[in-house]
Amino acid sequence: MQQINGNFYKKSIISIDQFDVHDIEIAFSLADSYRKDLGKGTVFHDLEGKILTALFYEPSSRTFGSHIAAMQRLGGSTIPIQGVTFSSVSKGETLEDTIRVFASYSDVIALRHPDEGASEIASTYSPIPIINAGDGIGEHPTQALLDLFTIKSRLGRTDNISVAMVGDLKYGRTVHSLAKLLSLYKNITLHFVCPKTSPMPTDIVSLIAKRGVVTKTASSINDIINKVDVLYMTRVQKERMDLKLYESIKDLFILDAKLADQMKKKSVIMHPLPRIHEITKEVDDNPRAVYFTDQVKNGMFIRMALLKMVLTKR
Ligand code: CP
Repeated sequence: MQQINGNFYKKSIISIDQFDVHDIEIAFSLADSYRKDLGKGTVFHDLEGKILTALFYEPSSRTFGSHIAAMQRLGGSTIPIQGVTFSSVSKGETLEDTIRVFASYSDVIALRHPDEGASEIASTYSPIPIINAGDGIGEHPTQALLDLFTIKSRLGRTDNISVAMVGDLKYGRTVHSLAKLLSLYKNITLHFVCPKTSPMPTDIVSLIAKRGVVTKTASSINDIINKVDVLYMTRVQKERMDLKLYESIKDLFILDAKLADQMKKKSVIMHPLPRIHEITKEVDDNPRAVYFTDQVKNGMFIRMALLKMVLTKR
């Protein structure tokens, strides 16, 4: 096992802004080791005796399941709290009080919350590290890392990449973190394909442009389909807008098999999931589609790496 940078030891992971290229390489190297070793049947004991609380105030399948799986794969244990109905949050307990309680039982908390900034606030009063597992329309840093790890694994590089981000770029937090993460690398072009009502936030566009990312907008998938190395599809975030707006934009950008076939041979189709109907089912069999394969599996390996970095010094 290689040396682990101590930068994240006992620290919360709130935003992708905390990572530099060196940190990312350490996380990727560790995730890659776990991927290879698990493939050989290795049983890990790295986090034996450690406990993760997965405290999820919003629905989740992948982020919740993969944090639990990651901790258990490393020999640790978990306290899974999914939904607030069966915890004392339903009686009116505050986030602050709830965090204090679970910090007494565990060593790290993965927190998903509907409010942007909730993880950062939680980290100010938590005596143990908080991992942001998605905060409203804010960020999803662990998803961005697994997305870039998948891109690197598939394309063999993190520089010289052209990516199209398609869908609800205003309310979709995964694209916020991924855009900022990609901006750390050289010669990145981002094509935004989104409804006029759901653009990428201007503060993110300004930040990544300053770092040298070329940003372009396109009005349809057709306009960029044969230009990009990565087509990153996202769903329209129905729960974050009124129904009338949702109905007016939900069918604007749909990837079907005919479109997918026009992509470069060595390109990838990604989606953080859940997929609603923005990618038709026939695309799932396209060799470029990695959303049910690499992305889901890599989610666990990246979270194993991050838990290890947060909970162990060396
Ligand atoms: N990608 C993602 O965050 O999926 P879940 O909402 O199922 O965790």
